[in-house]
Amino acid sequence: MNVKYDFSEKVALVVGGGSGMGRETSLLLASSHARVMVADFNKEAAEEVIRIINNNGGKASYVYCDIRNKESVFNCVQATVDTFGRIDYGANVVGIAGKTAGVIFHEADDKDFENVMDTNVTGHRWLMQAEISQMKKQGGEGYSIVEVASVQGLIGQIGAHQYSTSKHAILGMVKSVGAEYASQGIRVNGIAPGTTATGFVKNAFKENGWEFTNKTDRLPRGTMLEPEELAQAIVWLFSDGSSGVCASTVTVDGGMMAVK
Ligand SMILES: NC(=O)c1ccc[n+]([C@@H]2O[C@H](COP(=O)([O-])OP(=O)(O)OC[C@H]3O[C@@H](n4cnc5c(N)ncnc54)[C@H](O)[C@@H]3O)[C@@H](O)[C@H]2O)c1
Repeated sequence: MNVKYDFSEKVALVVGGGSGMGRETSLLLASSHARVMVADFNKEAAEEVIRIINNNGGKASYVYCDIRNKESVFNCVQATVDTFGRIDYGANVVGIAGKTAGVIFHEADDKDFENVMDTNVTGHRWLMQAEISQMKKQGGEGYSIVEVASVQGLIGQIGAHQYSTSKHAILGMVKSVGAEYASQGIRVNGIAPGTTATGFVKNAFKENGWEFTNKTDRLPRGTMLEPEELAQAIVWLFSDGSSGVCASTVTVDGGMMAVK
């Protein structure tokens, strides 16, 4: 892709930056000259991402973060400031699906539901609070936060009520929080990806005993999205090119929602 950005003066925090969309977002930000803090609870995967960045002349660092733990979330924002001096962009990418095989709503256990809500909603709320507090402390404008939700935040999915509930919640939060800070130099937006060929989907295939292929008739274009395509959308939402977009959700779904 031949879209170029220059984020030389900017610092970005990518939570869930160890794999999939977060990994590609970290790489794209770094090749666009941003300094990048990669946060994830998978240390090995995230350290591989920062190795690639630093070996290619970029600037990246790693901080452990488990988004289900408030202290860990606030610590990862503080670590970004301690390392790079500030924070301009928050890519809040981390998310889990919960059980994807054989979940019947009236028999579903609470533990899985709670884990999905803790990760996809409560943790994201803390993360936005920590990022916005820091941005307010810095003052000025030009800040942007992107919440990665899902098309399942726009429609339901039989057999995945926990996931769809969590993604609807986060898009609700984007509207409220995005509107609250719209006049304060902080844009908050959501992304609703369609099926994307990452570990997230590959694991679901495995759990259901299906062989993985990126061909799909769920997306009119016939193939799943690639994580790089979501990274492009996230980074565009950081750029001045999206200055008119706030408290909104950008659907990146290969046409999926058009025919639902
Ligand atoms: N892949 C898809 O088809 C798809 C579609 C729609 C939305 N999404 C959403 O996109 C986002 C990224 O998904 P992906 O496909 O890149 O998945 P992925 O599994 O490749 O990446 C998720 C990353 O989050 C990290 N993570 C998980 N739980 C964590 C926790 N508690 N604390 C810190 N890090 C944690 C993982 O280690 C991993 O590096 C998620 O929010 C997901 O819900 C994915």
